[in-house]
Amino acid sequence: MMNTLVQAQRAGSAEAPRTDPIALIPVLAAVAHPFLLMLFHGFVGPPGTEPSTLACLGASLTLLLCVALPFLGIAIACRPDLPASLRRLAYTTVIAPTLFVFVGVVQGMFRSPVPDAWLWCLLWLVVAAVAVLFARNPDDHIASAGTARWRVAHGVSAAVICLFILFHIGNHLAGLLGPQTHAAVMNIGRSVYRMKVVEPLLAALFLFQVASGLRLAWRWSATPQGFFRTFQVASGIYLAVFCVGHMNSVFINARTILLIPTDWTFAVGGPTGLIHDPWNIRLAPHYALGVFFVLSHLLSGLRVVLLAHGGEQRSLNRIWLVGVLASAAIAVAIIAGMGGVRL
Ligand code: HEM
Repeated sequence: MMNTLVQAQRAGSAEAPRTDPIALIPVLAAVAHPFLLMLFHGFVGPPGTEPSTLACLGASLTLLLCVALPFLGIAIACRPDLPASLRRLAYTTVIAPTLFVFVGVVQGMFRSPVPDAWLWCLLWLVVAAVAVLFARNPDDHIASAGTARWRVAHGVSAAVICLFILFHIGNHLAGLLGPQTHAAVMNIGRSVYRMKVVEPLLAALFLFQVASGLRLAWRWSATPQGFFRTFQVASGIYLAVFCVGHMNSVFINARTILLIPTDWTFAVGGPTGLIHDPWNIRLAPHYALGVFFVLSHLLSGLRVVLLAHGGEQRSLNRIWLVGVLASAAIAVAIIAGMGGVRL
């Protein structure tokens, strides 16, 4: 009887996937996010402060870390030896910069007295504990089964949404020419996307994009994927949270609760602005990665479609890389404009 028990335990422990501590590093990076933002504020100080060159250097490095840390999650999600729950944990850590904005906005909507950073640490503790607990479960090996129709629907809806996104990003790039130019471009766009028939349709398409994307991401994250698909899944998960949070900020918080216009001042966290306000600075990594991931996610989708139509892999990979670098440059330019840089 004792022997049987020991054998069963041995067999069980041989089959159970290990919880590699490396898989938990992206969680530490996610937990660090609000503290890095506090450090940034320590460097730049409140409005009216003229930070020294050393403080500017420290602030730039801190912000760079905030934007770079989610990529740790992508690197870990690429590992072939992780149980599904820890791979999904790694994917989840990528959303940290946008989730922190969402948490802050919802906390404000409910006038919560709990500091955002406390709630944040508790949240990640729970998420990590659940993932570690489920790491002992056998993997789900149904990865791509039954996703074909969802993939087509997700792609078709993306093609329509793309028209709004490209305009919207162009609109924010115009911020480099000043708030007046930004407002003038936005007014042109509003005459279309704020039409009574267009706006609800656009919102519904975005919600469909989020739901169908999360369904695909759940399937693909069940098993290890190559770099390109891992990047596509991770950027899609970021965008799902970004879109829900962003639409909540625009439609519910600003237009329904606070009754404020969703214009340039709203976007840059006026009147204090992005840089010198301890709350608003979280918007910089949130928006920068939103712009970067939406462009690079669209590019990744286009790469898959072109590959399926006989495109040459090496050239498509090169075009993808150039496109991703251009997406990063566009994201930096928009945030620079929002932070006060003018052409
Ligand atoms: C720097 C980045 C971004 C900033 C500063 C920003 C800011 C804004 C602002 C101010 C509005 C209100 C527009 C209006 O009142 O006419 C808005 C609306 C919206 N944004 Fe963004 N956005 C950014 C990126 C994105 C991205 C990447 C997406 C999509 C993935 C997105 C999706 C939307 C949607 C769906 C709306 C609602 C449009 C409507 O009013 O009907 N935004 N955004």
